[in-house]
Amino acid sequence: MAIYVVTGANRGIGYEYCRQLQGQGNTVIAVCRAVSQELKQLGVQVEEGIDITSDASVADLRSRLQDTAIDVLINNAGILKRVTLDNLDFDSIREQFEVNALGALRVTHALLPNLSSGSKVVLMTSRMGSIGDNTSGSSYGYRMSKVALSMAGKSLAHDLKERGIAVAILHPGLVQTRMTHFTPGGIPPEVSVQGLLARIHELTLENTGTFWHSNGEVLPW
Ligand SMILES: NC(=O)c1ccc[n+]([C@@H]2O[C@H](COP(=O)([O-])OP(=O)(O)OC[C@H]3O[C@@H](n4cnc5c(N)ncnc54)[C@H](OP(=O)(O)O)[C@@H]3O)[C@@H](O)[C@H]2O)c1
Repeated sequence: MAIYVVTGANRGIGYEYCRQLQGQGNTVIAVCRAVSQELKQLGVQVEEGIDITSDASVADLRSRLQDTAIDVLINNAGILKRVTLDNLDFDSIREQFEVNALGALRVTHALLPNLSSGSKVVLMTSRMGSIGDNTSGSSYGYRMSKVALSMAGKSLAHDLKERGIAVAILHPGLVQTRMTHFTPGGIPPEVSVQGLLARIHELTLENTGTFWHSNGEVLPW
């Protein structure tokens, strides 16, 4: 059994990661800004009050974890704000970069001392961050920030390979969470996370840096 750290763990896909991983007998360290009732009830280790956009907050997380040896770091926290060409809100675009791209890189960098050969890093990106798959435009902040996150993931895959650490760049599918207003067209978090965990299980130094859909499809950049 392994030690997993999950950000954005209080709800949505992050919570479901924690639930399934704990059910499989793993040690789960659930990182969030504010703990939810359901996360509290899971009984996993919760590290509350961590905002991934803050250097000080992420440094606090690092010091709380001390020398915990992390097997899998799942950078799941993210935001989606609507930004269209007619309403080009640069503050919102900047905020999405701060959380989606810089936040995940900040957490990964801060926790590098807790990772070692055989550890894995997961970045939860999105198909909306695929340039090749962009057939509908708009969503400037979300799309741009997720492309940046995927690029960070690719560089991390190269830089961490010699340390024996593999990196997965994952799209969960269209999932029924608060982010998507629980869209009826989406899949339940339970199904998405089953696929995501299968991808993490299959992740090796040979396929590090690949952009996968939770269903196993390799997505275009
Ligand atoms: N749902 C989908 O269809 C879909 C599709 C593609 C990709 N994704 C990606 O999958 C990941 C999880 O999405 P979800 O659907 O589960 O979204 P969600 O239900 O909206 O949950 C987002 C999580 O991120 C946390 N978060 C946001 N800003 C944060 C910050 N500054 N510091 C720390 N935590 C922060 C939230 O915490 P608070 O409760 O404190 O706000 C929450 O726990 C995201 O990266 C998202 O972009 C989702």
